Amino acid sequence: MKGYNLHYFLVLFFSFCILSCSNELKDYQNVASDYQIIPKPLHLQPSQGRFLIQDKTRIVGDTILSNEIKYVAEMLRTATGSDIKTSNNIADYQKNNSITLLIDTSLPDKESYSLLVTYNTIVISGKTPTGIFYGIQSLRQLMPSTIESYQEENTPITIPAVHIEDQPSYVYRGMHLDVGRHFFPVDFIKKYIDLIALHKMNTFHWHLTEDQGWRIEIKKYPKLTEIGSKRKETILEKNFNPYIGDEEPYGGFYTQEEIKEIVTYATSRHITVIPEIELPGHSLAAIASYPGLGNTDQPHEVGTRWGVYEQIYAPTEETFKFLEDVLTEVIDLFPSKLIHIGGDEAPKKEWKESTFAQELIKREGLKDEHELQSYFIKRIEKFLNSKGRDIIGWDEILEGGLAPNATVMSWRGTQGGIDAARMQHNVIMTPGSHCYFDHYQVDKEMQSKEPLAIGGFTSVEKVYSYNPTPEELSIDLQKYILGAQGNVWTEYMKNSDHVEYMILPRMTALSEVLWSSSEQKDWDDFKVRLHHIKNRYDALGLNYAPHEFTSELE
Ligand code: ACM
Repeated sequence: MKGYNLHYFLVLFFSFCILSCSNELKDYQNVASDYQIIPKPLHLQPSQGRFLIQDKTRIVGDTILSNEIKYVAEMLRTATGSDIKTSNNIADYQKNNSITLLIDTSLPDKESYSLLVTYNTIVISGKTPTGIFYGIQSLRQLMPSTIESYQEENTPITIPAVHIEDQPSYVYRGMHLDVGRHFFPVDFIKKYIDLIALHKMNTFHWHLTEDQGWRIEIKKYPKLTEIGSKRKETILEKNFNPYIGDEEPYGGFYTQEEIKEIVTYATSRHITVIPEIELPGHSLAAIASYPGLGNTDQPHEVGTRWGVYEQIYAPTEETFKFLEDVLTEVIDLFPSKLIHIGGDEAPKKEWKESTFAQELIKREGLKDEHELQSYFIKRIEKFLNSKGRDIIGWDEILEGGLAPNATVMSWRGTQGGIDAARMQHNVIMTPGSHCYFDHYQVDKEMQSKEPLAIGGFTSVEKVYSYNPTPEELSIDLQKYILGAQGNVWTEYMKNSDHVEYMILPRMTALSEVLWSSSEQKDWDDFKVRLHHIKNRYDALGLNYAPHEFTSELE
């Protein structure tokens, strides 16, 4: 018998055994390798027996859980190639072969869930639909990775019996993506959101405007996309001096319809999309589109090289009107309470040389250009607060005085986050040392063999070692640290394969840092589970970095 035929025969034989003796699944002894979930659940109690997905399996839940029911149905359709029936009749709860989704208000936290698998029922309870969604993600990881793509010869799908009680450590578990330096299509943004969901993370920080490209359609200012979304070329690798460009025009933007589609997609996966509209710096593409927004009479082009440009918005009424109009359209598209307004890397040279800016400093009694930046941000905050939204900004927004209700994203190390927490402001930690996934994943000697990256060295183990809560903070101030986020700046990532390579498996490590309790952290244990989730990456067709998978465990 040829290899293929033998394989086919064994699959058929195994299927026959399982389907004809499914009661034996009741006594089935499961093994530790059955329970390989990332991020690691708070309490996981394995037990005996296995649940078998069959044609007669039903997904049961109240109509308020129709989104989650649909998600499970789609997951099982991908897995089995056939439609699994659903029922809103809660009387079907706990009938043989049911997967029941249930709201249980006695659970401790709005993101907590309980998952009970026995040989003939599955019950996922959550205080909210969000908790239930995380229970579904654990159920997914208890199933074989082959469920991620239907194959004719899939073996029957069984799930090991277990009782899980679980909830996250941090309320903010984010991933960022810069689509300004390189643009990524809608389908990839959805794939990215699906990866965030797989990891029980809950925030997608979408960096939409940059010096090198404005990527969001704004109806009132069409030149932002007609001009600002395109650049004449892109710097070739790291040829800064002398500059060499690739001579290839580059561009792309998301229409408002596409943005709505993505926000809806993310919402159905319990993910908040935080848009970032950079100000006052990183705004060259906007200034190139509407030169009146700049500090000088010079015409400008959309940026073609990486780094920090000295062109920033002029602090004029014309600019504030423009930004308020832009933000009005942005908040109509994004329900997120937090709107990211950037605030980083805004050189003050132009404001130092501008008569208008200097007079404004005098008129407002400001000390210097840093206080002018603070004035700028506070005006934007006041506008967004009046619309029921709050601002979040990079840690430079501390300079010159922090806006009253701002959340701080600490990226230049952790000091900004510590200072903001001491001022009783909410903080998201994204220090370059642990959370910049544009850095190399191997040390210097090996970097020449890697795809070109901006620099640095942040291994998966280093990400895993991260503790987002600084020890310097007293217990009562630690509550201001809401969580952390992986940042993905795409200067050197021209396509989505490269993005996947840079985030995997580092985001997998970060997900455990953020979800699991610090007492549970164990690198060796994580590594075993990481090897297991690699099969899921493969089944999902993901392009991940190989370095963690070439050890003795292979
Ligand atoms: C940043 O990396 N410039 C926030």
